[in-house]
Amino acid sequence: MSRGTTQTTLSVAVIGAGLMGHGIAQVMAQAGHHVAVTDTDPAVLGTATDRIARNLGEMGLALEPVLERVRLANTLAEAVTGADLVIEAAAEVVALKQALFVEAAAVAPPHATLASNTSVIPITLLGERLDEQARARLLGTHWWNPPHLIPLVEVIRTPFTRDDIVTRTVEVLRDAGKTTVVVQRDVTGFIGNRLNQAMWREALALIEAGVCDAETIDIVVKSSFGLRLPVLGPMENADLIGLELTRNLHALLFPDLSTATTPSSVIDEAIARGETGMKAGRGLRTWTAEQAEATRKRLAQHLLTLNRATPDRA
Ligand SMILES: NC(=O)c1ccc[n+]([C@@H]2O[C@H](COP(=O)([O-])OP(=O)(O)OC[C@H]3O[C@@H](n4cnc5c(N)ncnc54)[C@H](O)[C@@H]3O)[C@@H](O)[C@H]2O)c1
Repeated sequence: MSRGTTQTTLSVAVIGAGLMGHGIAQVMAQAGHHVAVTDTDPAVLGTATDRIARNLGEMGLALEPVLERVRLANTLAEAVTGADLVIEAAAEVVALKQALFVEAAAVAPPHATLASNTSVIPITLLGERLDEQARARLLGTHWWNPPHLIPLVEVIRTPFTRDDIVTRTVEVLRDAGKTTVVVQRDVTGFIGNRLNQAMWREALALIEAGVCDAETIDIVVKSSFGLRLPVLGPMENADLIGLELTRNLHALLFPDLSTATTPSSVIDEAIARGETGMKAGRGLRTWTAEQAEATRKRLAQHLLTLNRATPDRA
């Protein structure tokens, strides 16, 4: 990944070295920044470098220039001391994230940007325990899994975020090769997860109503509109088929779509049976360890190919 217009080498701290944190650290190191990663779980922290190395290998990139810029830090204070940019990618728990930002704001330099990678929690809520000065430096940077292969980062501003913090963060992310959009209102789930989870809600409602099983949902999505999505967004598609037809479809269909406001019983019942997903060998689908690993690898290869084929998605 080449350096862009800002050309400044930053000191970046990533809090949480799990699925997202290690990949975010990798992207920032690939962009030439010095990255300190921390995690309270020594087993997770201890494997972060290996996981980054594996990603780089899959991407056909040299390990050394990236890994030499990644430092493992045993404590949050050690990671954020001197950081220009702090990216929090710890567990999705409001109180935990609020406390982490209080701690990070106390240790990081007064100019540091404070960013959360929360999937859905409003950023304003995460800043509730910060003073005015720190709150003005807090925003959301919502990356997607796997962060080193999915281009988008949603940058979420709160009513308190300073304009220059938003502008600077967008520049830094773009220079790191990411596609950015600014979410102008701090709504739960931002843009991408609202769209994505609206589809998951309908999928689960179809299963619940006995229309089809989980495998069928995946076949339908992967063999139909899923194929179009990398080159034709839904708004482009609405224009392509014409807004009269689009309106007619909505008038007939919207009254019948799920408006559930609680998680699906399909998920609740699976969890109660211990069927929590790939790690458990069964979730909505059945998985051997080999199938789970093959799926992860297939996704990585597919995204690498797609990123080369369609670099510009604006
Ligand atoms: N998994 C995804 O697809 C995805 C996508 C976008 C955003 N997110 C968000 O990113 C965040 C991290 O998700 P993940 O999937 O990487 O989870 P994960 O469980 O893989 O990683 C979270 C890590 O945070 C660590 N942690 C917990 N408390 C900590 C603390 N006090 N200090 C430092 N580290 C701490 C945990 O030990 C764990 O290793 C969550 O907010 C999640 O909602 C996840």
